[in-house]
Amino acid sequence: MQKIIVLTGAGISADSGLKTFRGADGLWEGHHIEEVATPEAFARNPRLVYEFYNLRRAQLLDPAIQPNAAHKALAEFEKSYPGSFHIITQNVDNLHERAGSENIIHMHGELQKIRCLQTGESFFWQDDLDETTPHPKGIHSSLRPDIVWFGEMPMHMAEIEELLSDCDVFLSIGTSGNVYPAAGFVNWTKGSCYKVEFNTEETPISEIFDRTIIGPAAKTVTEWCRDFLTTK
Ligand code: OAD
Repeated sequence: MQKIIVLTGAGISADSGLKTFRGADGLWEGHHIEEVATPEAFARNPRLVYEFYNLRRAQLLDPAIQPNAAHKALAEFEKSYPGSFHIITQNVDNLHERAGSENIIHMHGELQKIRCLQTGESFFWQDDLDETTPHPKGIHSSLRPDIVWFGEMPMHMAEIEELLSDCDVFLSIGTSGNVYPAAGFVNWTKGSCYKVEFNTEETPISEIFDRTIIGPAAKTVTEWCRDFLTTK
């Protein structure tokens, strides 16, 4: 039975109404990366960084933001497929979980988690966060979004490396191939691994894949999952 790994990026959530990171203007919701997504930004202007992620976190409670057909197809696939199946996501939203996926690795953290700066412990959190938020355990320590910022090590890397080195099918969905290490994962798979990319356009790493399927993930991923299960 083939072992399948799916890497997802912001493009899979685009069809749910969440903005991708690299818009045509090079800004994330009007901000330069270094203003909101680095440890230096948090040290310099914590209020701005808290606010940026508060807005992102609040979006997840908006009833208009729902898992789309691509998230649902992957969740259905996981339930029907008897082999090993894992999603590695760069996304900090919770749409894979809400679609019903179970084997999910959040390598860039999660919007609905906050982290204690003193102990490193993380906590489920759906509200706004700022300097005045009481620590869930009453400790005198600051709290930050449980998000991997630029210059920080992505989470769960040992597990990811092990999974990639042993997978037979690698699907990369809605990611621009700009941010490492995720953009290099396709090269961490073994030579015999079948590699498919799903995107609305070619990316800088498209030529490494056996196939690039162009189109919105809600359509292309749904079709691929159906075809794979019916031909196996
Ligand atoms: P990007 O915004 O860089 O790229 C999104 C990709 O999705 C682009 O290649 C789009 O062409 C593609 N896309 C857009 N709409 C799509 C659709 N409907 N169907 C399929 N593809 C679509 O987002 P990521 O690659 O996820 O990290 O960015 C990687 C990381 O950069 C993020 O996780 C974030 C950021 O730094 C952190 O926050 C740590």
